Amino acid sequence: MANKRLNRVRGLPQENCAELAKHDVLLCKDVLTKNILELMSFGLDYNESKIVFDSVSKSVAPNSSKVSDLLEKKQQWFLSTQLAKLDQCLHGGLTSGTITELTGPPGCGKTQFCMMLASLAIMSLLSTDDLDSCVIYIDTENAFTAKRLLEISSCHIGENQTSHLDVKEIASNVVVFYESTFQEMLTRLESLETIIIERNVKLIIVDSIASLARKEFGGHNLVTERNNMLMKEATLLKYFAERFNIPVLVTNQVTTSTSSELSKDSCLIAALGNTWAHAVNTRLMIRHSNEDHSIRELLVAKSPLCPLSKFHYKIDASGIVQVDDLTI
Ligand SMILES: Nc1ncnc2c1ncn2[C@@H]1O[C@H](COP(=O)(O)OP(=O)(O)OP(=O)(O)O)[C@@H](O)[C@H]1O
Ligand SMILES: [Mg+2]
Repeated sequence: MANKRLNRVRGLPQENCAELAKHDVLLCKDVLTKNILELMSFGLDYNESKIVFDSVSKSVAPNSSKVSDLLEKKQQWFLSTQLAKLDQCLHGGLTSGTITELTGPPGCGKTQFCMMLASLAIMSLLSTDDLDSCVIYIDTENAFTAKRLLEISSCHIGENQTSHLDVKEIASNVVVFYESTFQEMLTRLESLETIIIERNVKLIIVDSIASLARKEFGGHNLVTERNNMLMKEATLLKYFAERFNIPVLVTNQVTTSTSSELSKDSCLIAALGNTWAHAVNTRLMIRHSNEDHSIRELLVAKSPLCPLSKFHYKIDASGIVQVDDLTI
C-alpha cells in the first residue's frame, strides 16, 4: 500500500500531485516520511498539505469490518472433503480465503487427497451448472496422474446415482502446471492472477510446497534465504485466497525433531519451520497408523475453527475414505 502512486489516491488534487512529483514525491511512502512543513516547502499551502497528508494516510490504512457486517455478508464458503468428521470439524470443509496445509510422510496419501479435492471441487461446481470455473493444480513432484484423477472422479460419480456428470468434463476443468525449480514456481505464482480471473478459478492446489524449497535450499546456511522465498510464495497464495475468496490447499513434507520437552524419542513434525507454519491457517497432519499400515491417521493440528482432533482413513479407488468406529 505504501508503494501506491499518489495520482491513484482518492481525493488528491492532480495539481498537488504534479507539484510534489517535481520534488520526487511520487508514492504514498514519500509523503508519509515527511511532515506538513516539509510538504509546504514543496510549494503547497497549509490546507493543501493537510489534505495530501490526510488522504494518503486514509488510503494506506488497512480496511476494517465490524463482526456484525462480516456475519451478514456470509463471505466464507467451504469446500467439502467428503470426510464427514473432518468436514464437521472444519465447519464444512476447506475454508475459502485461507490456506490449508496437509503434511505427512511419504506414501501417506497427500497427493491422493489433493487429486480427490480437485475432483470434488469440479464436481460441486458442475453440479450447480457452473461450467466455466476450474481448479489450478501446481505439481512440483511430477506426481499428478490424469488416470488416477479420472478413477477417483468416476468412483464419486458412481456414488451419486442421480449425477449426470462426465469424468471427461471434470478432467477438462483441472488445469495442471508442472514446476521443477523454486524460481519457476515463484514466476508461475506471480503470473497466476490473470488465469484466476480468466478461468474463474475456485481452488488452488500446490503439491508440494516443500519439495523444491528443501531441494534447493537444503543447507543450514540457506535457511534465511529459503524462508524469504517461501514467504514470497505464502504472500501470493494468501493474496489469491483472500482476494478471490477461494481455498488454497498445499502439501508439506515432514522432518525429524528431537524435542526434549515432549519426548526423549525423535518424532516427525512438519517441515519448513515456524515462519512457514505461521503462514498457514489450517494444518492437517497425516501419518501411518501404528496398528495397521493400511489405516492412516489424520490430525487437525492447527485450526481457527476447532480443537485438536484425530480421525482414521484409508485409501481406495475413490481416494481418501474415512474409517469409522475404529478403537484407538
Ligand atoms: N487406487 C488406489 N487404491 C488404493 N490405494 C492407493 C491407490 N492409489 C494409491 N494408493 C495408495 O496411496 C499411496 C500413495 O499416496 P500418495 O502418493 O498420495 O502419497 P504422498 O503422501 O503424496 O507421498 P509423497 O510424500 O511421496 O508425495 C500408495 O502408497 C498407496 O498405498
Ligand atoms: Mg505426493
